[in-house]
Amino acid sequence: MLLKGKETADQIKIEIAKEVEGIVNKGQRAPHLVAILVGEDGASKTYVKNKELACQKVGFSSTLIRLPESTTEEELLSKIDEINNNDEIDGLIVQLPLPKHISENNVTQAIDPAKDVDGFHDVNIGKLTKGQDTFISATPYGIIQLLDRYNIETKGKHCVVIGRSNIVGRPMSILMSRSGNPGNCTVTICHRHTQNLETITKMADILIVAVGIPEFVTGDMIKEGATVIDVGITRVDADNKRGYVLKGDVEFESAEAVSGYITPVPGGVGPMTIIGLMQNTLKSHQNKFNG
Ligand code: GUN
Repeated sequence: MLLKGKETADQIKIEIAKEVEGIVNKGQRAPHLVAILVGEDGASKTYVKNKELACQKVGFSSTLIRLPESTTEEELLSKIDEINNNDEIDGLIVQLPLPKHISENNVTQAIDPAKDVDGFHDVNIGKLTKGQDTFISATPYGIIQLLDRYNIETKGKHCVVIGRSNIVGRPMSILMSRSGNPGNCTVTICHRHTQNLETITKMADILIVAVGIPEFVTGDMIKEGATVIDVGITRVDADNKRGYVLKGDVEFESAEAVSGYITPVPGGVGPMTIIGLMQNTLKSHQNKFNG
């Protein structure tokens, strides 16, 4: 069965829009998200555009700051500082990846943790690890909610996460093992050095794949009836008008045949990621106005 991220995201957007209507009716300003995009990466441009469109849909204000590839780290940090000090802005994201001459770590650590709606700052990652209230990074947050909305039982289950990135794999593993719902899983993290990967993935009740390698996981690696969450979305060259097709990290046809639930690509995790970002921006606004 499909886990329809797009449909679920559309439903949640309606719910957020109602909350924003309430906020504005109270006389407060709408939540405001700022995105900084450095350079010309095609996929990043699409992601940022989708985030802006989502803001419009739920009634947020949004500002896109586009900076050239040649921007120095100092210039970017100075822009971040300006936004950190602007009370009219609730959330700030700097789209990754950044040009090689800019340190992603310096940039993510320069964002005020109170505006870090990506949840990439050490303070927010630390809080997440300790089970404290924080901004959960958008992709894991979206996945948790998708599992929740489809009432997928996680307690006591074995969750296998492939990928240990700071953005997806690691926070995902922490969330799935936390005391809570969704959560309470026994979690295994796999990565490039994992031996006997297939033996491990076949033990997964919930398999979350975030490796960025198209069709890395095939149906024969999946246990009958497992829930499969495909985080990958890679542009693969193709002979069509756009010049590419989007591929997940899971070979969909063979995986769908054996899985219980599976997310499609596109239309699965992607739209839920944007929801996570919208909810974090709303939360930041609430923190500011309601304490
Ligand atoms: N690049 C890929 N995913 C993300 C994300 O969730 N946030 C930001 N800022 N950049 C990304």
